[in-house]
Amino acid sequence: MRSGRARLSPFPEGWYFVATRETLESKKLIQRTWMGENIVAWSDSEGRLSVAESVCPHLGSDLGPEAGGRVVDGRLVCPFHGFEYDTTGQCVATPNAPPPATARLRAFETREILGLVFAWWGIGGRGPQWDLPEAPQAGADWTALDTWTARFPGHPQETTENSVDLGHLRYVHGYDAVNRVGGLSIDGAYLRSCFDFRRTRTIAGIRSVFDVSAVTHVHGLGYSYVEVHEHSIDMDTRLWVLATPIDGRLIEMTLFSQLRRLERPKRPIAGMRFLPARLRSRLMNKIMISRQKRDVLQDVVIWGRKSYRPRPRLCASDGEIGPYRRYCEQFYPEGALETE
Ligand code: FES
Ligand SMILES: [Fe+2]
Repeated sequence: MRSGRARLSPFPEGWYFVATRETLESKKLIQRTWMGENIVAWSDSEGRLSVAESVCPHLGSDLGPEAGGRVVDGRLVCPFHGFEYDTTGQCVATPNAPPPATARLRAFETREILGLVFAWWGIGGRGPQWDLPEAPQAGADWTALDTWTARFPGHPQETTENSVDLGHLRYVHGYDAVNRVGGLSIDGAYLRSCFDFRRTRTIAGIRSVFDVSAVTHVHGLGYSYVEVHEHSIDMDTRLWVLATPIDGRLIEMTLFSQLRRLERPKRPIAGMRFLPARLRSRLMNKIMISRQKRDVLQDVVIWGRKSYRPRPRLCASDGEIGPYRRYCEQFYPEGALETE
């Protein structure tokens, strides 16, 4: 039933997380609902990736594993008549006849950053209008990625708005001394927001104060990358906050976190003093992601129940929600609002 209320169009254009390469390689073929689309994803033995609509252009079979779709020698084989598709989506073989040149899956452009696989979702099927950033430098001084995922009713514009909504950092998450550092910087699809804050935490029963600087790099509404520096320990964390619309109502938020190896913390960390650097870093990364998870769960209580206010009545301490909203407009070339 239509309520006549304006809501944000649920699938803004951009790059959205699909899965990790590790998951694709271990499961061989995955299927999911992503941006309101039924998709499959796989990779071949050379590591080429494919994300495509899960419909066979021959006679319309579903291609997912439950329907019997499988990957053989890097090709996706349809369960209905055995047409075979390479990772570009082209049909390259059928069991009894030459492959029709026009048999081609509807494939989505992909990008990979440190083993995280993204695909482009364009309005009206148009191709990428901008790119994701280069992968940050990785190496032995960074821990492996830890991850956590939640599904809830929400919208990627509303969740990304958190990075400029300084008021909620104090009120919902209880951060102290929240201060914006510099202005919001916006360049096309890229937005950067920097702020400092203080957080009091209890680790192993001991209260510690953390002074944090965060730099959030937003590349569209599906990809936020946050560099977090904690000053008193001298600890660097990287956090990816990836919001992916599922079906027009639910979104999936996936966090990935990694921590720069803590060789010589500036001050001892409660309960971790005598641990080797490697173990200390891994443990600290787990603590960091569990804190992020707690923050997200606090936000979900609000996100899952809020309405979109196209004309919010802002106050002076809100941060830069207005410029953020204008930045977001580019992701809706056909208009941001629709009627429920
Ligand atoms: S429907 Fe896929 S091969 Fe016929
Ligand atoms: Fe938040």
